[in-house]
Amino acid sequence: MKKLIAANWKMNKSISEAISFIEEFKRLVSNEKNVDIVVCSPFTSLQAVANKLKGSGNIKLGAQNMHFEDSGAYTGEISPLMLKDIGCEYVILGHSERREFFDEDDFLINKKVIAALNHSLKPILCIGENLEQRKSGKTNDVLENQLEKCLKGIDKNQILEMCIAYEPIWAISRGDPNHKPATKEDAEEGHKFIRNFLASTFDEKTAKNVRIIYGGSMKPENAKELLQMPNIDGGLVGNASLNAKSFAEIIKSI
Ligand code: 13P
Repeated sequence: MKKLIAANWKMNKSISEAISFIEEFKRLVSNEKNVDIVVCSPFTSLQAVANKLKGSGNIKLGAQNMHFEDSGAYTGEISPLMLKDIGCEYVILGHSERREFFDEDDFLINKKVIAALNHSLKPILCIGENLEQRKSGKTNDVLENQLEKCLKGIDKNQILEMCIAYEPIWAISRGDPNHKPATKEDAEEGHKFIRNFLASTFDEKTAKNVRIIYGGSMKPENAKELLQMPNIDGGLVGNASLNAKSFAEIIKSI
């Protein structure tokens, strides 16, 4: 399966910073054809990034969130139709920062997943346990519960359009470049659990074809060993995706 490496810029970069990044990054990865690359910029720079990406087949556009309705009285929200209109192919849903700081729950995230699929946007669904849950041995229960609720009503064809991001919350850098990622063994264990869940919910063949990507302090120094694990099909990169060179290095480490 082709790996997928996605940048999650979070709430970073002005329009001109986004443009300079893409100009540099396009040159750095122009020969990387065996990987799907996604850049998820803030809403304000999506249009500028979309314009810059025209003609660069291997880099796709993604958003970091969306509302589940097509339109209406939802002040401050962005709809799936608006994301399609601007050229997005992917959308991150259920990121732990949305869950923690904006009270998003699995029920809401499920509505967003369904809306995205209905509009042919590929959801990157984020799940993961926090440190307390991990320490008390609840990791698998947390992952199972999130998967069951967020994937409610999703069928076999739809899950193949999705990507699951395993992001253990304790491994996310929150901007600190020295933060520690999960070990490759811990990450692999989470990915394997997710793969097995998909196999029992759908079937083995379907489970094998869904990309499960890792997020949490992925950087050039550790990307290779993480991406070599059998169930890690790519990465969702925060801090290290803000710099074109370090994001490109992660891609080249495949
Ligand atoms: P970092 O790579 O900064 O740890 O962020 C991971 C993440 O949250 C990606 O969605």
